[in-house]
Order: sequence, then structure tokens, then C-alpha cells
Amino acid sequence: MAHDNIPGSGKLQELEKVALEAAQVGAEILQKYAKAGFRIKHKNPLNLVTDADLDSERAIVEVIRATYPTHQILAEEEGSHSSQNSSYKWIIDPLDGTTNFAHGFPAYNVSIGLEYEGKCILGVVIDPTRDEVFVAGGGSGATLNRKPIHVSAVPKLDQALLVTGFGYDIRENPENNLDEFCRFTLCAQGVRRTGSAALDMCYVACGRFDGFWELKLNPWDVAAGLVIVQEAGGKVTTYQDEPFSIYGRKMVASNGFIHGEILEVLQRGGLK
Ligand code: IPD
Ligand code: CA
Ligand code: CA
Repeated sequence: MAHDNIPGSGKLQELEKVALEAAQVGAEILQKYAKAGFRIKHKNPLNLVTDADLDSERAIVEVIRATYPTHQILAEEEGSHSSQNSSYKWIIDPLDGTTNFAHGFPAYNVSIGLEYEGKCILGVVIDPTRDEVFVAGGGSGATLNRKPIHVSAVPKLDQALLVTGFGYDIRENPENNLDEFCRFTLCAQGVRRTGSAALDMCYVACGRFDGFWELKLNPWDVAAGLVIVQEAGGKVTTYQDEPFSIYGRKMVASNGFIHGEILEVLQRGGLK
């Protein structure tokens, strides 16, 4: 029997198959460009886009369109691809971690999330540099390369490895996450910045990180990761402990145990 607002398991399997195929096609394109080289353009001084972002997105959209021509699509580079009013919306980051990719730093991925009637129900993230495939959907748990994953059991912030990121407006906008970065660096076991929000969320889901906070993320950065963290037993909220929407701008994802301590540090203000 289907849950409220969630398609039945047969339909979900079919959707997951298409999501995986599309992400795989995108990931192969990224690796093709990583080997052969690519052009880089600047959206602004810090925000890059490469041939790989654009080609990956085109190919992913093509795969989804071939099976679901009426579904809505929201993709980072081309925006909204459909005016149709389907209950389904695919949310695509064809290359999450473009700065890393452009520098040859192997921390990037393809991220595909799916909304049904406004709720994220499926997430697929493929990291082609490590051959890692993260999947979650339909409440049946999250997996990494088909094996179940779970968030960590780290109970306290001072034992936690955290991760964060910075927006592309960091040079001009004082709301730049640097104070928060200082505060957490002084009270967590460690803080990392990988440059790939979707991987940050997947790493919380499989216990490599214990918590992740960031502001100014876009829906395509977090749609897949949200489902993966939640189905791995983690917690995702706003900085105010409200339910997180992928269209919101401030997010905390954690193993649940350290969530309250993270929120307290975010709300504290100042450098320490
Ligand atoms: C970026 C990465 C980065 C995060 C930025 C995102 P992009 O995505 O996820 O980790 O800090 O906020 O925009 O531009 O590489 O797809
Ligand atoms: Ca991204
Ligand atoms: Ca991107």
C-alpha cells in the first residue's frame, strides 16, 4: 500500500531506475571531460561553469524526458525545463563541485532529487571519482553502492567532524559564514570544507561527517541529499530547528545527537 503522498513501490522502483540511469550518464560525461579537458566560463569571479556542467545536464534531462516527457524539471544551468503541471519535479545538479572539478580536485558528483507533490521522495548522488553511488527513496533506507548506510553515533559536538561551505558572494556579502566557521572550529573536533554540498550530505548520511551546516544553498544542491540523510536516520532542519525546505537558504543536517548543539552555536553570534 502507498504512503500518503508517496507513489507505490513499483512506481518508485521505476523512478529510481530512471534516476540512476540519468545520473550514470551524467557521471560518465563528467569523467570524459575530466580526461579530455574542457572550457571554463565565469558566471561571476568565483562561480564557474564548464562544458561538463552543460553537457551533463543536457544528457540527464534527455534521459528523464525520454521516459517522463510531462514531468517538471528544475536544473541548475537551464533552470525550469517545463511549463507542464505534473506532480513530479526532477531537481538536477549536473555537476556539484564545479570549482573542484575545474581544478582537478576529485570531489564532485551528479545529484538528482525527485519531488512528488512538493515532497522530496527520491535522491541519487553519484561520485564518479570514487565509484560511489548513494541512493534513498520511499522510506526504505539509504544505501551506498547498494549497502545500507546510517548516520554516526557521535554524541557530542566536541567529538564531531563537521563540514560546511561558502556561497559565491563571499567577497561582497557580510553574511558569509566566516564567523560561524570560526566558532565551530573552536568547539568541534574538526571542520572541513569539501566544496560539494551533495557529497557533504551523503557523508553525513554514511557517518563520515557528523554534521553539516550551510547557508544560501540552492534546491539542486540539497534535494537528493535531503532524502539520503533523512533515510539514513539523520535530521535536517533550518537554523531555527524548523522543517527544512529545499527552497530555503539555511540548513543543518546531522546525525541527530549533536543537532541541538549545532543550532545553539549557530544562534549564538560572534566569533567564539
Ligand atoms: C556548490 C557546492 C559547494 C557549496 C556551494 C554550491 P556547484 O555547488 O555544492 O560545496 O558550498 O554553495 O553552490 O556550484 O559546485 O554546483
Ligand atoms: Ca551544487
Ligand atoms: Ca552545479
